Amino acid sequence: MCGIVGYVGPKNATPILVEGLRRLEYRGYDSAGLTVLGKDGAVQTLRRAGKLKELESALKSEALTGRCGIGHTRWATHGPPTQGNAHPHLSADGSIALVHNGIIENASTLRKKLLEEGVEFQSDTDTEVVVHLIDHLWPQDGSLEDAVVAALEQVIGAYGIAVVSSRDPEKIVVARQGSPLLLGVGSNGEFLVGSDAAAVVAHTREVVYLNDGDYAVLTPEGYRTYHLRQGPVQRQVHQVTWDLAAIEKGGFEHFMLKEIFEQPRTLEDVTRGRLLEEEGSARLGGITLDDRELLSMERIVITACGTSWHSALIGEYMLEELARIPTKVEYASEFRYKNPVVDDKTLVIVVSQSGETADTLAALREAKRRGARVMGIVNVVGSTIARETDFGVYLHAGPEIGVASTKAFTSQVAALALFTLYLARRRNLSILEGRKLVKALQALPGQVAEILKHNDEIRELARRYQEAPNFLYLGRGYQFPVALEGALKLKEVSYIHAEGYPAAEMKHGPIALIDENMPVVVLAPHDGVYHKIISNIEEVKARDGQIIAVINEGSDELDGKVDHFLQVPETHPALLPILTSVPLQLLAYHIAVLRGADVDQPRNLAKSVTVE
Ligand code: AGP
Repeated sequence: MCGIVGYVGPKNATPILVEGLRRLEYRGYDSAGLTVLGKDGAVQTLRRAGKLKELESALKSEALTGRCGIGHTRWATHGPPTQGNAHPHLSADGSIALVHNGIIENASTLRKKLLEEGVEFQSDTDTEVVVHLIDHLWPQDGSLEDAVVAALEQVIGAYGIAVVSSRDPEKIVVARQGSPLLLGVGSNGEFLVGSDAAAVVAHTREVVYLNDGDYAVLTPEGYRTYHLRQGPVQRQVHQVTWDLAAIEKGGFEHFMLKEIFEQPRTLEDVTRGRLLEEEGSARLGGITLDDRELLSMERIVITACGTSWHSALIGEYMLEELARIPTKVEYASEFRYKNPVVDDKTLVIVVSQSGETADTLAALREAKRRGARVMGIVNVVGSTIARETDFGVYLHAGPEIGVASTKAFTSQVAALALFTLYLARRRNLSILEGRKLVKALQALPGQVAEILKHNDEIRELARRYQEAPNFLYLGRGYQFPVALEGALKLKEVSYIHAEGYPAAEMKHGPIALIDENMPVVVLAPHDGVYHKIISNIEEVKARDGQIIAVINEGSDELDGKVDHFLQVPETHPALLPILTSVPLQLLAYHIAVLRGADVDQPRNLAKSVTVE
C-alpha cells in the first residue's frame, strides 16, 4: 500500500508534505514524490525512486514553494519502482497532478480508450489513467471536483486519491473507495489529508475519516464532504487519542525494538478495565451482542492474514479448550474465494492490526453477506475494518510503525484471551478457572518486562546464528502458532528462510533437513505436551541439529540436550504464547540488525497490505 499526504493553508506546503511522507513511509517506500502549486497556481513536481531521503536530497537543489500541495510514498503494484512510475502523475499539459493508493481494476480498458484518443502515457502505472481521465472529462467552466467526479464515474477498483490543478488552484480534491483516507482539520485556515492519522497528527488531532464513495474539497476557507451518489454529507470529527511521541523512536534504534519493549505497557493497556477478578471474567464494552444472541452462536470462524492469522490460531485453541465452541481459522485471502459454511449462527472474528488489510476486509464483507455476525479485534481506531464490523475489541496498543508486527501480536493474543474468558464464563468455564486466567493476564506485563532483561543475551545468541541460511521453528499445541510466528519474524526482517512446523510432524519428512548446519528453535514451555516436545528434541539432537529451546525457568530436564536456552516465566498454557514469542521477536530483530537489513522497512514489504 502507499502513503498519501496533502496540505492547503497559509504555510509553505513543502516541508509539511515531506514530514507527512516521513510519517507514512512505513506504508511503502519504493519511491516518493510531491507536487506544490507555486505562484499563480503553477504545478511544480519532484519525484525520486527509492526512499524518501532521495527526494529530500533532490529538494535541496530544487526547492518547491507554495501553499497547496500533495505528496506520495509508493509500494509498487503496477509497474516497477522507478522514477517514471513514482507519483504524482500529471495530465498531458502538466496542469493536473494526482496521487493514488489502491488498484484501478479497469485500468487497461481505460488506458486503451485514452490511447485511441491520442493520449500519450508516461508510466506503466494504473494511476496515470485517472489523471488523464480527469483532464479529458473536465467540463467547460467546471471545477476540479466536477472533473474528478466525472472521472471516478468511469473508474472501477480501490482508490484513495488526492488531486491538485493549476486550473483550479489553492484547492485539493480527495476521494476514497476501498483505500483509507482522512482529513486533518487544522486551525488558522489549514487543512490536511492523509492515508492515516500519522500524516497529520503533528498539526491537528481532529480528523474526519472518509467512507467509501466519499469525496472532499479542501481550500484555505475550509472543507466540504460529499458522497458520489448522495451529494453533500456530514462526517463526524474524531479526536486522535495519541500524540507525535507515539510515532517517534523514543531513543530506540528502530521502531521494531521500541515496540518490542513497549509490550509490558501495551499488555497493561489491552487488559485495563477489562478484568473482573471476583467473577473470574472479562468486561468488554465493545461487545454489543446480547448474551442470548452470543450464546446462540453455534460456531466461530476467525479470519486474518500474516501475523494476525497466527494470533487467530492461538485463539482457536483457546476458544475450543476453554469455551468449548467449534472454532476454525481461515486465511482471509482463502476465505473470501471459497464457499465457506457461514450463516446467522456463525460468529466471524476478523483480526487486523491496521484495520485496512484488503483480504481481511473482503472476508469481513463476505461473512456479512452470508448473514454472520462479525466481530473485530483491531488496533487502529476508526479504521475501515473497525467501522464495518458489528462490534469489537480494540487493542489500544498505539501506532505500530515497524513493518514486522510485535506488540500488536501479543495484544491480539491477550484480546482473544479476554473474549474467550467473556464467552467461556457465559458457557461452562468455572469461576475458579476464570479467576486463574484473570490472575495470569494481570501478571503478563511484569513477566514480559522480566524477559526483556535477556535482550543482551539474545543479541549474543543472534551473533552466533546470523549467517545461518535456514532455520526451523518447532512447537506443539498453543506453541505451534508461536513456531509459525517466530519463523515469520525472522524471514521478514532478516531475509533468512525459516519454517514453522508442528513438532510432531517433523518425523513425517522435514526431519530430513536436520543436520549440524540447521538451527532448530523449539518452543518447550511447561504445558500439556511438554514431555512430548522433549522426545521431539531428542529426535533432532540425534541428528546433530543445533537446538535453541525456549523453556520455563527451572526446567532442568533439558540440560545437556540443547545448545542454548531462552527462559520465560510460567503462566497459564493459553497465555504462554505471549511470553514465548517475545524472545523470538528479539532473536529475529538482532539477527536482522547484525545482517545489516532494513529492520523497520524490510524489502518488498509494507505495513498494511491494502491491495489484493
Ligand atoms: C506481520 O509481521 C506482517 N507485517 C504481516 O504479516 C501482517 O501481520 C499482515 O499483513 C496482516 O496485517 P494486519 O494485521 O494489519 O491486517
